Amino acid sequence: MALKTFVKIVSLFLMLVMFLTSPLGLLIGKKEARIAPEKENCIVSFAAISDMHLRGNFKPIFQGMLELGLRDMENAKEKLDAVAFVGDITDHGDFDQWDVFADAVSRYDIAKNKLVVVGNHDTWGPNRDEFDNPQDGVKPTFIRYNKLIANRDITEMYYSAIINSCYFIALGSEEDHVSAYLSDAQLQWFAAEMEKAAATGLPIFVFLHQPINGTHGLPYNWELKKDDPPDEGGIGDQSEQVVDILRQYDNVFYVSGHIHSGFKNADSKIGVKYGSVETIENNNGNPITLINLPSYMYFDFIRGSHLVNGCGWVVEVYDGEVLVRARNFATGTWLTRFDQTVTLVK
Ligand SMILES: [Fe+2]
Repeated sequence: MALKTFVKIVSLFLMLVMFLTSPLGLLIGKKEARIAPEKENCIVSFAAISDMHLRGNFKPIFQGMLELGLRDMENAKEKLDAVAFVGDITDHGDFDQWDVFADAVSRYDIAKNKLVVVGNHDTWGPNRDEFDNPQDGVKPTFIRYNKLIANRDITEMYYSAIINSCYFIALGSEEDHVSAYLSDAQLQWFAAEMEKAAATGLPIFVFLHQPINGTHGLPYNWELKKDDPPDEGGIGDQSEQVVDILRQYDNVFYVSGHIHSGFKNADSKIGVKYGSVETIENNNGNPITLINLPSYMYFDFIRGSHLVNGCGWVVEVYDGEVLVRARNFATGTWLTRFDQTVTLVK
């Protein structure tokens, strides 16, 4: 048998398993009402998913699986203020893969605001060597699909949005590596945006596909080599530069994907010691909350870290606290044992 045929059969098998394991969420989740704020007087609420790795082939499986989640968002009892897609939306940044995403999102009224954040896989498009090529370069493609999907006019791989007075800052790599590359221009812009965001007195949400180095269990989660240096597998060389900016402010939430993990907390028996929600200290001795997203759609049996697809977080901001709520969007269930309440610094 030709190798290609063999690979195709194995891929199909894995995707079928991936699809079939998702309803497991029904067994371990808590079925209840549609998405709605847990409490009254919610200032802003958003859903976040990442790592869908959409592909043009096997479209019914990939698009169907995504649409299960989009339908759940559309059916929210109270409309979400935003939905963030935090990178690795496509498996290889090809037009047909972006089209699957655009087609799926266009069918549902999920939220007024959509945030499309670039992941490393999204930078691996057909013209990854010519990042700025106006025809099919990574940057023009990202800009074009941001307009198509989110109706957002952007000029760079990064941008910000103000939603219900809260700042949502989307960072993005400007090169096609597994780790991130943030130009000096992006870092300066980021620092200035954080200053403006802090002036609101509201929590600040920062999105970057790659987690901060040494958090959430990379590279162990990928390679299973316990002696791997902990500074590999996240943002990369510029991790400290990003952290230096984050550390200057209170009530910062940093949302990443990339790891392809499921939900984890201190009670988790499988995988690494790091949880999906971690903290690091800022310059005032207060916590910066690091929220890592489980991959929405990626089958990874070998590492044992991710069996249930269709998951992500719902985040709700209130006066004095932020709720971080685990949900399986594909099955419409809350996974409350992973929920976190973050008390805001006054
Ligand atoms: Fe990914």
